[in-house]
Amino acid sequence: MDKLIIRGGIPLKGHVEAGGAKNAALPAMVASLLIGEPIRLHRVPRLGDVKTIIDLLNHLGVKVERSGQETLSLRTDGTSQLEAPYHLVKTMRASVLVLGPLVARFGRARVSLPGGCAIGPRPINLHLAALEKMGATVSLDSGYVEAKAPRLRGARITFDGQTVTGTENVMMAATLADGTTVLENAACEPEVVDLAALLNRMGARIDGAGTPTVSIEGVPQLHGAEHEIIPDRVETGTFMVAAAMTGGDVTINRCVPGHLEAIIEKLRETGALVEETDHSVRVRREEQMQGVNIRTHPYPGFATDMQAQFMALLSIAQGSSVITETVFENRFMHVNELLRMGADIKVIGTAAFVNGVPTLSGAPVMATDLRASASLVLAGLAAQGVTTVSRVYHLDRGYESIEQKLRGLGAHIERFTE
Ligand code: EPU
Repeated sequence: MDKLIIRGGIPLKGHVEAGGAKNAALPAMVASLLIGEPIRLHRVPRLGDVKTIIDLLNHLGVKVERSGQETLSLRTDGTSQLEAPYHLVKTMRASVLVLGPLVARFGRARVSLPGGCAIGPRPINLHLAALEKMGATVSLDSGYVEAKAPRLRGARITFDGQTVTGTENVMMAATLADGTTVLENAACEPEVVDLAALLNRMGARIDGAGTPTVSIEGVPQLHGAEHEIIPDRVETGTFMVAAAMTGGDVTINRCVPGHLEAIIEKLRETGALVEETDHSVRVRREEQMQGVNIRTHPYPGFATDMQAQFMALLSIAQGSSVITETVFENRFMHVNELLRMGADIKVIGTAAFVNGVPTLSGAPVMATDLRASASLVLAGLAAQGVTTVSRVYHLDRGYESIEQKLRGLGAHIERFTE
């Protein structure tokens, strides 16, 4: 298992490029199940989760070819395998995205229930209720959910809570349904908009993606298409926090600052200087950072996927901050590790009370999930002394070449394989 060893206290400086968004690439790849023609996706990041979805798609009969660094071609000629097995779903919940497309195209699918995960129970009841409304028969058996429908039909679905992959799953299924599906209280994340753009290029008729009401007029079939994945807003945000925490000056290129408005606003409140263009963002910090209060929300609110990184930042800001996590239960696993580095944080229910300390000190820490790992790397970059982050495979699920990118900004960070 790999470890990252970080010698902290160096202000990060320079330019770095954002990669393609993990959470947009995964559903886009799954969309290949809807057709028999190839789709070509550009800017697909090289990540653990992308590898996992490739394994799952291969298992389902999709041929995946990589050309160059960032392009994938995916083609499903027909599949004899309509089952997503436990060992592939348990490592990555997004695997459940195959359910909607398989039922829509092949009339049947069996997908292992993802089970609990590090950031809370994360059920899929909303995905299933929506597919049932579209005429699917859903049953649970031996840890698997089985959905069947000779042909899905359009329906009006009001989600009983906003769900990103739920919206994506049902949107994909609805493209091939009979009639029109209207989703109310749909997730508005940029990744949902990106998937809708790809599906429309494939011949789907989707309107309203990015708003809470999405309408999808079913078509008899879709066709091949080419699409570039949007930049990763969480990776971009993580570099922005790194710049602020280390008192550096970093420009992130090939990103969309418009996807990060809530994050940029909070960074500015802490005292960091943020300059945006349409495709780049520069973050500098010259003054001491100030504590701010944060409440996570679905997009366009403050992203839960940036909560852990901001906690690392606020742990060295002056004064106190309250961070309230409203999207996931149990997404404070980084707290105990930050405490080991000298942070002063108390968790009561869904709120973390952070009292800023002048500096963190390097320590051996352990990553527990993807964004928690990112927060520990950030803490290590700002801390005095050496931090060793173990279980880096969590980080590799969602950050491409993170240590190379950070080294390019002057960080002292090395990977060791035990
Ligand atoms: N929920 C239900 N029932 C459902 C679906 C969701 O109760 O059927 C609840 C969840 O338990 C959670 C809330 O609704 O409390 C929101 O969950 P959502 O379904 O939106 O999350 P997700 O689709 O499983 C995606 C991202 C996550 C990101 C969340 C929230 C992908 C592949 N994953 O997960 O990304 O945190 O949306 O924005 O798009 C990450 O990248 O580190 C990550 C965890």
